[in-house]
Amino acid sequence: MTVTSPRRRGPLSEGEQVLFVDRKERRYLVVLAAGESFQTHAGLVPHDDVIGAQEGLEVTSTGAARFLVFRPTLSDLVLKQPRGAQVIYPKDLGPMLMLADIEPGVRVFETGLGSGALSTTLLRAGAEVTGYEVRDDFARRAVENVERGLGSEVLDRYHVHIRDAYASIEHHDFDRVLLDLPEPWQVVDNLTPEILRPGGILVAYTPSVTQVMRLRRALEVRGFAAAETVEVLQRTWHVDGQAVRPDHRMVAHTGFLTHGRYRGRA
Ligand SMILES: C[S@@+](CC[C@H](N)C(=O)[O-])C[C@H]1O[C@@H](n2cnc3c(N)ncnc32)[C@H](O)[C@@H]1O
Repeated sequence: MTVTSPRRRGPLSEGEQVLFVDRKERRYLVVLAAGESFQTHAGLVPHDDVIGAQEGLEVTSTGAARFLVFRPTLSDLVLKQPRGAQVIYPKDLGPMLMLADIEPGVRVFETGLGSGALSTTLLRAGAEVTGYEVRDDFARRAVENVERGLGSEVLDRYHVHIRDAYASIEHHDFDRVLLDLPEPWQVVDNLTPEILRPGGILVAYTPSVTQVMRLRRALEVRGFAAAETVEVLQRTWHVDGQAVRPDHRMVAHTGFLTHGRYRGRA
């Protein structure tokens, strides 16, 4: 079992995931195992050079490439974990936590689970998550990624069901509903005050604007208020001495975040 937590301190140990960062800022996620090696484009780095050392150390491969070694952040885990479905990017995951007002103990209904990036983010923030995923291979991948990223203890708060969320929702008493699937309005149609308590918050991630339009209409007729749709644009800057300018390239569009407060039956 692998446990990687930002609260972990001290020397790096066997079984932990670590990030090797090369001179070009490329990142490689590796699970440390005694006697094994990280294979690079320029030779090997024995894991034994890293086990027992402090984060931030620099190692050199047998082919003279240099790497810094750190514990991964949640953002690194999300970007590097094995994917089945497309994941939500960290630039949207952070705002989703804020829009959904996630705090420890909050009860979340999440669908679909995909690769588990949103699940990992919600669970790391302390939520209790019940998830519906229609594909059992994706559900398995989501659980594996959550366990690999956060450790098996967190599975006590992650309840995954292979179910079609468009058909019905059989679980009750949620404070939040988080959606990332092609037709979120079909899930909105299934909500009742027994499922999402009045005052609860819905947040949906949708890549296209036609999805936003249908979803907003559903929210309007199904008892939601204070709806808003936002797009998060993140632009990095090139900073090198006096040469300071926006980077030429950025991730322009990922998706829209739509959120609203539930008042109960319309
Ligand atoms: C884009 S992925 C979700 C990615 C996920 N949010 C993440 O961050 O890794 C969409 C998921 O919705 C699932 N899905 C589609 N229709 C569904 C339905 N009716 N009920 C439950 N899950 C569904 C798909 O199988 C897929 O795994």
